[in-house]
Amino acid sequence: MKSKLIRYNDINNFQLKRHMDYLKAQSVDSLSGTINISGAKNASLPLIAMTILAKNDVNIRNLPHVADIRTLLKLLTNLGADVSFLDEKVVVDTKPLYETKATYDIVKTMRASILVLGPLLSRFGHCEVSLPGGCAIGQRPIDLHLKALEQMGAQIEIKSGYIEARAPEGLQGCSIIFDKITVTGTANIVMAAALANGKTTITNAALEPEVVQLCEVLNDSGVKIEGIGTAVLTIHGTAGKLIDIIDFSIIPDRIEAGTYLCAGAITKSQITLTSVEPKHLGAVLAKLEEMGSSFTLTDDTITIHPAQNIKAVKIITQEYPAFPTDMQAQFMALATQADGVSIIEERLFENRFMHVSELQRMGADISLNGHTATVKGKTTLSGTDVMATDLRASSALVLAALVANGETNVHRIYHLDRGYDALEKKLEGVGADIKRLKE
Ligand code: UD1
Repeated sequence: MKSKLIRYNDINNFQLKRHMDYLKAQSVDSLSGTINISGAKNASLPLIAMTILAKNDVNIRNLPHVADIRTLLKLLTNLGADVSFLDEKVVVDTKPLYETKATYDIVKTMRASILVLGPLLSRFGHCEVSLPGGCAIGQRPIDLHLKALEQMGAQIEIKSGYIEARAPEGLQGCSIIFDKITVTGTANIVMAAALANGKTTITNAALEPEVVQLCEVLNDSGVKIEGIGTAVLTIHGTAGKLIDIIDFSIIPDRIEAGTYLCAGAITKSQITLTSVEPKHLGAVLAKLEEMGSSFTLTDDTITIHPAQNIKAVKIITQEYPAFPTDMQAQFMALATQADGVSIIEERLFENRFMHVSELQRMGADISLNGHTATVKGKTTLSGTDVMATDLRASSALVLAALVANGETNVHRIYHLDRGYDALEKKLEGVGADIKRLKE
């Protein structure tokens, strides 16, 4: 078969065309069938940034087709990398990389662009990365990333909205204890430490499967990392030597999977997810079980047998392996259909309740007190026009739309497109009546 080579710019034009789309959804009686889960966005982002450390062309399989991935690839091409899409894989060649400034126009669209800070600094000894700025779900500072890099010997200045980082003698291995668990912070410092001089120990490291995959790929590529999957990581730096990165395939997206399990639960439908990793979904499956659903699991599939009467639940979002903040909004939509009072406490992001007012407009009975939402169910939801406010809030509105009377229009779905691969097509495939339209 002839290989299909697509250059990066063709993909980017496609992204611009979809900017003002919205979703029109009707309520459904039930869904049935199979949904294939895409590669994890949050695993892909650090692994793409990691290619900055490579001396070879890096072959990545199972990248999801989502806007955030295209944004980070665009950032790499702006820095001089060559990115091509060849059949089912993306090939990233960072050898020609010459530019070390990640500019505001890209970083403002995606905070995770901060992930290039560690690898750029460790490869070039200097870089400038725009400060990410505001975020809909809370303040989201990056102080812990910067403090850790300073401990590794970097000189960091904030000038005109940019982080200017310098380490002319290379970064030095040291002991870092994170005050708080940070996912992208851990990834950034692991990548910085990969090319550092000597050994870096990170204590209170994130345990998220996405961080684990980054460490595994680096370790399999010759950067020795001890303690993978634990809170103490020891990274043996290569003293500035670029690495030969192995071919790899992105792990399944546990948040996408959790969202479709909620679609099964809210519509009381049996659906099966394929290409999924049940081990990464422990806390999500446990909460769905508390709400009355049960599951059949294999190594890479999950079938949900939904509750006919959904039970109320108490949820506290915390770091992995506890319940993920990225599933909080979807469970809130589900809780509107549970019998009784559900309590949902958000511990990671102070402002991650933007979906509440939109769900209320659909008829949900939700009251907010600080970091805690109280959801009284079961309520009859009514279809209306609602606005997506952030990535996961958007999918919560789609879930509500599946059971709301009549028609729901979810606007501003560019938020949704940042992280869900073909959501409306996947839902249509199991029987939902949902269409992407232009504003
Ligand atoms: C990552 C995920 C995001 C998820 C979040 C929490 C990616 C690309 N994004 O975001 O989907 O919702 O983890 O699971 O993987 N903090 C500080 N200072 C810092 C860094 C973080 O105070 O320097 C705080 C944050 O404000 C937040 C908490 O630590 O309250 C956790 O944030 P963090 O784990 O860093 O989230 P992200 O990595 O940005």
